[in-house]
Amino acid sequence: MTRLELVDTERVVHVRAPGKVNLSLRSGSVGQDGYHPLVTTFQAISVYEEVSARPGEGVSITVSGEQAERVPTGPENLAARAAVLLAERAGIEPHVALHLRKGVPVAGGMAGGSADAAAALVACDALWGTGFSRDELVELAGELGADVPFAVLGHTAVGQGRGHLLSPALVHGTFHWALAIRHAGQSTPEVYAKFDELSGGRAHLEPDADIDLLLALRQGDPGALGAALHNDLQDAAIALTPELEGALEVALDAGALGAVVSGSGPTVAALGRNAQHALELSAVLASAGVADDVRTATGPVAGATILSR
Ligand code: C5P
Repeated sequence: MTRLELVDTERVVHVRAPGKVNLSLRSGSVGQDGYHPLVTTFQAISVYEEVSARPGEGVSITVSGEQAERVPTGPENLAARAAVLLAERAGIEPHVALHLRKGVPVAGGMAGGSADAAAALVACDALWGTGFSRDELVELAGELGADVPFAVLGHTAVGQGRGHLLSPALVHGTFHWALAIRHAGQSTPEVYAKFDELSGGRAHLEPDADIDLLLALRQGDPGALGAALHNDLQDAAIALTPELEGALEVALDAGALGAVVSGSGPTVAALGRNAQHALELSAVLASAGVADDVRTATGPVAGATILSR
């Protein structure tokens, strides 16, 4: 009997994991490891990657959804690397067919690829019955990429180190976002290289630099949160994609409580007063022609979650 005859080939695990916005990102200068030390506050928002895992031969990846053709399907795909890493640590052979349904803009600074990896870790763990704890999955996530641990945990958290050492933040209520998305995408290493060229990074990173922002989150005060949004990478992102300045201006002119490039961009996140206002902001951004696509989203939301198994 072959191995496949022993397993239930109809078995499928569905997991979803959220994209994120960086409410604040402060960066030191590049370290020996090629990474920049950060203090950043992540918020998981309601744009999702959905990953299904079923028994397969080796690791295979298929992709659907917007911009799916831009996602690599070979072993370099972060979800494939997640499956291989989990199997290696569990001491088993990696056999899984992964399907990724893209809901987070590709290369948008919203950690869609990291969400795929987080969802793949959780899905493979359930499919293979490897029984890793959430903490163990978060640790594996940190080996895959700087933003992967946050996609496992979700909600709102302060990240230090490469962004992977997380402390949860207290949040009252829900915040309403309008997202201005550009299909061209932006390479994270290129944005960091431009950042090095323009600023070189902060000499000192204050771990409690985001005190006003954290207070705004705790009090559920969108006005104060809007005023506290900040991104050290924003000038570098604008230098590479000058059109981002227009999107930020349009959002602020339309009464956004704040607007910021998310992570390395090029997505611009604009904060609305409420759900209706976020919808209005997205309509203004769409009609001003400063984005290829617009979305609304709420945050915070949960991290990688099993939908069915
Ligand atoms: O960890 P991840 O693969 O997402 O990072 C992609 C690239 O972004 C890194 O290779 C590095 O060039 C850059 N990066 C950085 N500092 C960070 C996070 C990412 O320089 N804190």
